[in-house]
Amino acid sequence: MEKTVQEKKDSRLEALFIDELKELYGAEQHQLNVLPLLKKAASSLKLQNVLANHLDATREHVQRLAVIFEKLGHPVEARMSAAILGIAREAEQVIETTEKSTATRDAGLIVAAQKLEHYEITSYGSLAQHAQTLDWDEIEEILESSLYEEKEQDDLLTTLAENYINKEAGRE
Ligand SMILES: [Fe+2]
Repeated sequence: MEKTVQEKKDSRLEALFIDELKELYGAEQHQLNVLPLLKKAASSLKLQNVLANHLDATREHVQRLAVIFEKLGHPVEARMSAAILGIAREAEQVIETTEKSTATRDAGLIVAAQKLEHYEITSYGSLAQHAQTLDWDEIEEILESSLYEEKEQDDLLTTLAENYINKEAGRE
């Protein structure tokens, strides 16, 4: 039977959604490798704590995305985005080009962590909107909870940079 225009539109959006979901899953998984490196390179205990909490949250986010794949009856699949690999490379460059145990290095690590965070905030925000359009309420809710936590992490990093680390780096 011929599909209605609305159904056709939805199935295309569904395909786009799955594609974006794979990319976000790849990004979250890659963060499981990147965050420990950032944490190890950080000298501020506060920054180490924020990154450690972020790592815990990331494990939870990976699980939530797997649940979404399952709900959609799609195998769990990761797609590696060039953007995430590029941002991860930038984080390595910060470590290579700054001195160990300096606030300047910590300031650079925060920039890298926030670039990762902003990528994820954009992805979660867009996917949550698409889920809403597709009337996938439960999936939208799952995405919103991770989006909320990503924003929280981002705010923590901003506060840490503005109140402590950037000032200290300015005195080095
Ligand atoms: Fe995340």
